Amino acid sequence: MSLRPSKGISATIPPPIPTAYKWATEYKPTDERPLLDMSQGVPRNPPEELLQDAITEATKQGAWGYCPAEGELVLREALVEEIKLAYAPEVDLTAEDVAITVGCNMAFVAAAMALADNGDEIILPLPWYFNHQMTLTMLGIKPVPLKARAEDGFLPSPEKCKALITPRTKAIALVSPNNPTGAIYPPSLLAEFSAIARDAKIALIIDETYHDFITTGAPHHLFSASSDWRSHLVHLYSFSKSYRIPGHRVGALIAAPSFITHVNTVLDCLQICAPRVPQLALAPLLPALRPSIRDMAVQLQHRHVFFREFLPERWTVGTPEETAGGYYAFVRHPFKGKTSEEVAKRLATESGVICLPGDFFCEKDVDIQKWLRFSVANVDEEKVLAVCKRLEEAETAFGWELDV
Ligand SMILES: Cc1ncc(COP(=O)(O)O)c(C=O)c1O
Repeated sequence: MSLRPSKGISATIPPPIPTAYKWATEYKPTDERPLLDMSQGVPRNPPEELLQDAITEATKQGAWGYCPAEGELVLREALVEEIKLAYAPEVDLTAEDVAITVGCNMAFVAAAMALADNGDEIILPLPWYFNHQMTLTMLGIKPVPLKARAEDGFLPSPEKCKALITPRTKAIALVSPNNPTGAIYPPSLLAEFSAIARDAKIALIIDETYHDFITTGAPHHLFSASSDWRSHLVHLYSFSKSYRIPGHRVGALIAAPSFITHVNTVLDCLQICAPRVPQLALAPLLPALRPSIRDMAVQLQHRHVFFREFLPERWTVGTPEETAGGYYAFVRHPFKGKTSEEVAKRLATESGVICLPGDFFCEKDVDIQKWLRFSVANVDEEKVLAVCKRLEEAETAFGWELDV
């Protein structure tokens, strides 16, 4: 066989979500007991009609050629206005700081490739977003785990992070609100990480795919005019969740224009440009779509509270209510000595509940074995109640010993 896989791809795990769906194929759904999917973080409904119509219209505008690697200027300008609204009107940000990417995952790949070489290191809080770990491993960049503990609400420690920095460290990469734990990192914590990165002369990448769903104020103050954010900050964003268009593949990367130049070199090779139709459709509509995003944020927050309230007593959410948000809830299962993969597999095959094991978000780690990720984004309250009921049933149905 001449198609010999690279060391990078061989060292990388296969995409985890299909594994969970494969388990679910063994479940025999009935009308009374349908399959209940709380695994994937996808929007529940199609995009607003306004946006659907605009996408149809934009296809007629002759946007069939390439646009610049950094994306359509109109969307870059429109995104700057949305960031100002969410973070602070006086933030120091212009369209020159923005590149549009084929989704947020591409933004992360571009950031990693523009920052680090084979053998370099990037610090990732554990549990990590698996695509970040997979990307780095594929590129031969070492993901260095910074363990975030359940006792700390899965907020990573800046002090412990400092101790992990070596001459090979190129960046710290955070996700807030977090995937998989749902933890919203407070602005003060992000400020500490920003100072660490700046002082160590490394980058701070923050994947803020879910920031539109924070209902408690600005996600952070790092873009302020008084900070020197352009020396080290790389902000990543996704249009997939807030605008409910994951299949249209639009994301963004915000950083200093000098760094955007390097990102554009990567993007020129990987994507040439992001799809133009959704870019052109989105650009004039961002202000009109704000109310729908706000509604989603409120609904999501409500569903987090609802899920927490109806979870059986022995199952607990890892993040305190005040710092929990976004799409996910990380739940501790009650089965003594069982790995999260064993539990998720039986839940899928026997109980008809699909969730993701904590094992998918770490290298083998005994503590994270106790946790399962549930997405609260694509289910209604009726399904949440049905899931909670089946979790309680599993306590006896599985015949496993329970934690005391
Ligand atoms: C933290 C995080 N970043 C990026 C993505 C992917 O976003 P996109 O569809 O824009 O590539 C996801 C999707 O689940 C995510 O959870």
